[in-house]
Amino acid sequence: MKKVLAGLVAAAALITPELAQAEKVVIACGSVGQEKELCTQGAQAWAKKSGHTVEIMSVPTDAGQQLAQFQQLLAAGSTDLDVVRIDVIWPGIVANYFIDLKPYFPEDVLKQHFQPIVKNNTVNGKLIAIPWFIEAGLLYYRKDLLEKHGQKPPTTWQELAQTAKTIVDAEKKAGNDKLVGFVFQGKSYEGLTCNALEWVDSFGGGTIVDPSGQVTINNPKAVEAIDFMASLVGNVVPKGVLSYEEEGARGAFQSGNAVFMRNWPYAWALANSKDSPIKGKVEVMALPKGGADGKATGALGGWQLGVSKFSAHPDVAADLVKYLAGPEEQKRRALVGAFNPTIMSLYKDEELLKANPFFGSLYDTFTNAVPRPTITGSKYNQVSTEFRNAVYSTLSGKGKAADNLKKVDAKLKSLGKNGKW
Ligand code: GLC
Repeated sequence: MKKVLAGLVAAAALITPELAQAEKVVIACGSVGQEKELCTQGAQAWAKKSGHTVEIMSVPTDAGQQLAQFQQLLAAGSTDLDVVRIDVIWPGIVANYFIDLKPYFPEDVLKQHFQPIVKNNTVNGKLIAIPWFIEAGLLYYRKDLLEKHGQKPPTTWQELAQTAKTIVDAEKKAGNDKLVGFVFQGKSYEGLTCNALEWVDSFGGGTIVDPSGQVTINNPKAVEAIDFMASLVGNVVPKGVLSYEEEGARGAFQSGNAVFMRNWPYAWALANSKDSPIKGKVEVMALPKGGADGKATGALGGWQLGVSKFSAHPDVAADLVKYLAGPEEQKRRALVGAFNPTIMSLYKDEELLKANPFFGSLYDTFTNAVPRPTITGSKYNQVSTEFRNAVYSTLSGKGKAADNLKKVDAKLKSLGKNGKW
């Protein structure tokens, strides 16, 4: 018996050091489209390799609600979350809650990523997150319907409205009364800020607050852009859009009931997935210009991975970040989910270009995507909320853009210092 016990103790001693090292890492993965599934697969692959375990924290689909959830946990110093996904617009808001990742990521690794994003993730010299994927707003359209009705892909919003109307009217006559013209993210949340920034920028109306910190939203081009889009609601744009997030728009488009859709790149992989009713019938292009002298633009989106400063095992958490944001995993996510890599060399990868031809043809759209006005730092969220509420009111027929944007202008000036940022 003594011998057996001694043997057991010895065996335990052999096992224990390893067990003590195995940590559980909690990661918030995201939940739009395939986000959760792909991130879980990646995290589990890392767990298998490293001997650690992972737990996935569920988050709301609405980016603003996600921010609120993280802020609540982190403000309370919670150790329940180790790896946090960080929206491209958040570094100025959440920087204090994250460790500096520089010691874990040598210069040559960081150099592989899009440099503007690395810069965006560096707050007061601290690298708070590693780029994971980038996005830009894109226009999806049903190439089969455009061809059937002899229409060309639109280069301006005015053409888009016209083309949508022509197709919807003709289809209606033929008995297809479910089809609508154009869907986008019209709920009053961060997604609408992105859509409306694109409209304003495409009409030449600037970026709400300019890079020097001047509030610019109250200008004739911005007014024209928002009034124009509002004029489409109830016509080529169904009123239901005013409650759509990304997935609401994708649902309408993917079921075959919309001619045009504004969305992020992830919708490509799903639109062309095995059981998609519109598989092979979809094309992607840059968003239209606001008139002949406008510009083609797309809002810059995307997510980073950071390690909470309250994590009980930051080294292990940083290792998970290294794996998820590394080339192999970025390539897998791009192949399966059309998540745009932040590692530049992957844009030359033949396999990726074949799966997502628009990675190549719209490369400029991604590299020149228009950023939201994060010069407003920790107050970005308030700035965005003021702006999109005014847009939402205008889209819902509550006031004209001239009045609504004038109020935003005054509000943003009062939030900044001496009318400036
Ligand atoms: C996407 C973008 C993100 C943006 C959000 C708005 O997730 O990547 O930057 O804030 O959509 O809905």
